[in-house]
Amino acid sequence: MLSPLRFGVLGVADIAVRRTLPALATIPGEAALVAVASRVLPRAVELADEHGVRAYGSYAALLADPAVDAVYLPLPAGLHGPWIERCLLAGKHVLAEKPLAVDHATTVRLLRLAAGRSLVLAENMTFPFHSQHAAVSRLVAQGRIGELCSLHASFCVPPRPDGDIRYQAALGGGSLLDQGVYPVRAALLHLGSGLRVDSAALRHDPVRDVDLGGTARLRGPGGVEARLEFGMDGEYRCHYELTGTRGSIRVERAFTTPPEMTPQVWLQSGSGASHALELGADDQFARCLSAFVAQVRTGVAPGGDSRHQAALADDIRSASYLTSGSSL
Ligand SMILES: NC(=O)c1ccc[n+]([C@@H]2O[C@H](COP(=O)([O-])OP(=O)(O)OC[C@H]3O[C@@H](n4cnc5c(N)ncnc54)[C@H](OP(=O)(O)O)[C@@H]3O)[C@@H](O)[C@H]2O)c1
Repeated sequence: MLSPLRFGVLGVADIAVRRTLPALATIPGEAALVAVASRVLPRAVELADEHGVRAYGSYAALLADPAVDAVYLPLPAGLHGPWIERCLLAGKHVLAEKPLAVDHATTVRLLRLAAGRSLVLAENMTFPFHSQHAAVSRLVAQGRIGELCSLHASFCVPPRPDGDIRYQAALGGGSLLDQGVYPVRAALLHLGSGLRVDSAALRHDPVRDVDLGGTARLRGPGGVEARLEFGMDGEYRCHYELTGTRGSIRVERAFTTPPEMTPQVWLQSGSGASHALELGADDQFARCLSAFVAQVRTGVAPGGDSRHQAALADDIRSASYLTSGSSL
C-alpha cells in the first residue's frame, strides 16, 4: 500500500484553516499534512502545533524540506504564479488555490513547466468535485430538460473587510479572478470548452484599482448561451440555472456547498412542477484533494479546465467596458 502524500502549506490562510486542512484530515490514507510555513513564524507554529507537524518561518524553508512531496498554496492570487514556479523548481507537486495565475499565458507556461518536470500542478477549484454537479449533468444527458439552451450563473459576496487581499491590485486582487472564475467554470462544466465571450463589463474601483464585480455573456456551439455575474460589492448570490427546451435545473449554494449540507437542486421537467432532488451531502474539498493525490499517483494531470478558464477570464477582461464601482 502506498504511503500518504506528504503535504506542506504555504501561508496560514483563512481558506486553509477553514476548509482545506479539515478536508485533508478526512483522507488520512491518501494524504497527510507534514509542515506549515508562514511569513511570520509564530503564526506557522500555532497552526503546526494544532496538527502536530513542523513549522517554518519562511516559504523557502518549507520548499527545502525533502519530506514534503506536495505543496498546497493558498496565497493571494497575484502570488500564485511566482510561488508555483518556485515550488515546481524545488521538485514539489502543487495544488494551488484558484486561479493558477493572473493570466492565460502564465497558466499555460506553469502547466508546461510542471509537465516537463513530471510534476502535477492542479487548481483547487473544488465545486466541480461535488457529486451534485455530476447528478445535474446526468439529468441533462438524459434529456430531462430537453435541448440545453442556456446557463445563468452568479457568484457574488458582500464587501470584504478593508485591507483584504482581494482589494489589493499588487496582489492580483479583483472580483473577476476571485469570484468570477466560479461562474466561468460552471459554464465550462456544463456547456463545454467551445465558449466565446460576446460581451462583458467590469465595475472598476478607481481608488483601489481593482474590479469589484461584473457580468459576461458567452456563446457556445449551436448558439447555447451563458450569462455570468460576479461581485464583491453586493448581496450573497451563489447559484446556477440551466434552461432547456422543456425544463430547467437550478442549483443553490452551487459553488460553496459545505460538507454537511444537503444539496439544494431543483428540477422542472416538461409540464411537471419544480421539485427538489434527493442528493447526498459531499465534501468537495476532500474530493478535490483525493483527485489531486490520484493525479500524482498516476502521473496524469489534465489541466485543460484551468487553461480554458484562464483564457476566458482574459477574454472577459479584454472585452469589458469599465463602469465605475463605488470605493470606500
Ligand atoms: N477554493 C476555494 O473555495 C477558495 C475559497 C476562498 C479563497 N480561496 C483562494 O485562496 C487564496 C487565499 O484566500 P484567503 O481568503 O484564505 O486569504 P487570506 O486569509 O488573506 O490568506 C492569504 C495568506 O497568504 C499569505 N500571504 C503571503 N503574502 C501575502 C501578502 N503580501 N499579503 C497578504 N497575505 C500574504 C498570508 O499567509 P502568512 O502570513 O501566514 O504567510 C495569508 O494568510 C486566494 O487565492 C483565494 O482566491 C479559495
